[in-house]
Amino acid sequence: MTCFPLLFGKKVPSVAKRDPDIDEELLGLKNVRIFTYKELRNACDNFSSANKIGEGGFGSVYKGLLKDGKVAAIKVLSAESRQGVREFLTEINVISEIEHEYLVKLYGCCVEGDQRILVYNYLENNSIAQTLLGGGYSDIQFNWRTRTTICIGVARGLAFLHEEVRPHIVHRDIKASNILLDKDLKPKISDFGLARLIPSHLTHVSTRVAGTIGYLAPEYAIRGQLTRKADIYSFGVLLVEIVSGRCNTNAHLPTGDQYILEKTWELYEQGELIRLVDISLNGFFDAEEACRILKIALLCTQDNPKLRPSMSSVVKMLNREIDIGEIKITKPGLISDIMDLKVKEQKNNNDMKTSCSYSASSSASERQGNTMSFAGSSEVNTTFTVQYDPST
Ligand SMILES: Nc1ncnc2c1ncn2[C@@H]1O[C@H](COP(=O)(O)OP(=O)(O)O)[C@@H](O)[C@H]1O
Ligand SMILES: [Mg+2]
Repeated sequence: MTCFPLLFGKKVPSVAKRDPDIDEELLGLKNVRIFTYKELRNACDNFSSANKIGEGGFGSVYKGLLKDGKVAAIKVLSAESRQGVREFLTEINVISEIEHEYLVKLYGCCVEGDQRILVYNYLENNSIAQTLLGGGYSDIQFNWRTRTTICIGVARGLAFLHEEVRPHIVHRDIKASNILLDKDLKPKISDFGLARLIPSHLTHVSTRVAGTIGYLAPEYAIRGQLTRKADIYSFGVLLVEIVSGRCNTNAHLPTGDQYILEKTWELYEQGELIRLVDISLNGFFDAEEACRILKIALLCTQDNPKLRPSMSSVVKMLNREIDIGEIKITKPGLISDIMDLKVKEQKNNNDMKTSCSYSASSSASERQGNTMSFAGSSEVNTTFTVQYDPST
């Protein structure tokens, strides 16, 4: 196994022995530390199960203590998610340059042999999937102010990725488990740019690595059309989850209540949006603000992507700088209108909570016209190719 030593502005002898193109790539990394496999293995006690904090579509995540005393989240990419050294480092270079108050910071990576490991800043309060939506397994109290701070923080982080980073970044997997919380419950978006690290033949065929059902915009789920508007749709679903404290889908509820977005539209039409607000707040919330956030969520999830506001407009709407009173809201794009989704309960790997996830698969032969039927395995194997139009 080859080792890349720490390259903080230093030229290190063993680098000179490597492929000259790759060395150039490595030495060009400015903001990112290159860790040795041994260093990371020591940091998390040989990747012990006691240090494992999660498992996602890209691999396993461990909590580790680095030599400099920093606590890190160490994400070991699964074998199938690994790409060549050069491609990996090129993308790492892009991600490592991105810094923002509401984005998780990438400290560094490890590219030894066929290992591809990412090292992130560790966030003390886990993700909102495990805390806010974790079904009472967390002691954190999410009062109204904390919730609005999370909504605005995530909106600002996403607006930054969409509109300030050049070239802009479509996250592709905005969801509750990618919203991490620091010690003060301030949100940080994680996994941005990650889809770029995964070989493209994997990212465009599977929502496991390029989006999560329940948050997927219909045009992305069905036709593979990937634009910033797909992220905005997912953000809209997330807004409803934060206000209601409920997962976007819950198969245990009566039909009609199972899909939160469907419920939101129904209550909007009845002028009863307020009924969606989390009862655990015991009435301590700003009713006008709650209804406004839910209306913004409906705008973000409009069926026609062109009707969804940009993220910078969403930030202004959340801050009351844009009045949404006059904006017409039509029926949101509901995935349940076009798919027969099967929902299964999935135990979280650390048994902290029961999370809701979708069990879905489809093949080209199951697709008929606009209908896609889902049943069975744990990922979506659609045959679409992602059409990414950077101008949208
Ligand atoms: N930087 C981090 N700090 C703390 N916990 C993290 C961090 N990154 C990931 N995690 C935890 O690891 C879990 C798995 O993460 P990930 O592999 O990204 O999968 P997913 O986002 O699909 O849950 C997350 O849900 C979260 O609980
Ligand atoms: Mg994640």
